[in-house]
Amino acid sequence: MKALVVGNWKMHDTIAQAVQLVDGLLAVVDQFPDTVDVAIAPPFTALQAVSERLRGQSRIALGAQTMHWEDAGPFTGEISPPMLKDLGVGYVIIGHSERRAFCAETDETVNKKAHAALKHAITPIIAVGESLDEKSAGQTKTKVVMQTHAALRDLTSNQIRQIVLAYEPIWAIGTGRSDDPRNADSTMQEIRSANAELQDVRILYGGSVKPQNMAGYAAMPNIDGALVGGASLAADSFAAIVRAAAPR
Ligand code: PGA
Repeated sequence: MKALVVGNWKMHDTIAQAVQLVDGLLAVVDQFPDTVDVAIAPPFTALQAVSERLRGQSRIALGAQTMHWEDAGPFTGEISPPMLKDLGVGYVIIGHSERRAFCAETDETVNKKAHAALKHAITPIIAVGESLDEKSAGQTKTKVVMQTHAALRDLTSNQIRQIVLAYEPIWAIGTGRSDDPRNADSTMQEIRSANAELQDVRILYGGSVKPQNMAGYAAMPNIDGALVGGASLAADSFAAIVRAAAPR
């Protein structure tokens, strides 16, 4: 399976900074292995500028960090799937733990957004993961399998085959405390077993991925790439992660 590495820029970078970062990546795309797909998810305010920079090349795809499920309507502050399509967005991160914690994202809205993304031919990257308390209580697998089932509710087999999943242990995000690759692989195997159609779906690991630890994840059978936060904010470290993500 081809790997996928996604840079989640979160709430970072003005337009000028975002353009500088994407230009830095475009300067080194010829070093990206053919076996790795790459996407970047800048903040909404920089999507248009980054989209213009990415035009005419196919090596780096454009992603968004969230979206609403309706096409249009009275939803102040929200961004709809057609608005993202208009900007050339091909991927959307759905259900990131920061949005579940701070922006009222629920299993139900994650599911609605998954349906909406697929309807508009945007690939949803659906994030699941357990908290430190859940991990300590031995509930990791139950939690992520439950989140996966909820996210996939009423999707057809064909639709499920088009999604991407991301396993992101909440305690590993932004902490420098990455999950052990074997441990993550075992959790991800459980996620994959949640539905027969997930056999060939890409599952990304996320949580303190760095150039130094990416190869350890890429070597695992159930890890098909990474969702990268902090280390995606500099072209050299993100490019090094992409190079280390080639499946072996
Ligand atoms: P991190 O974030 O790489 O900074 O830990 C990952 C994520 O939140 O997607």
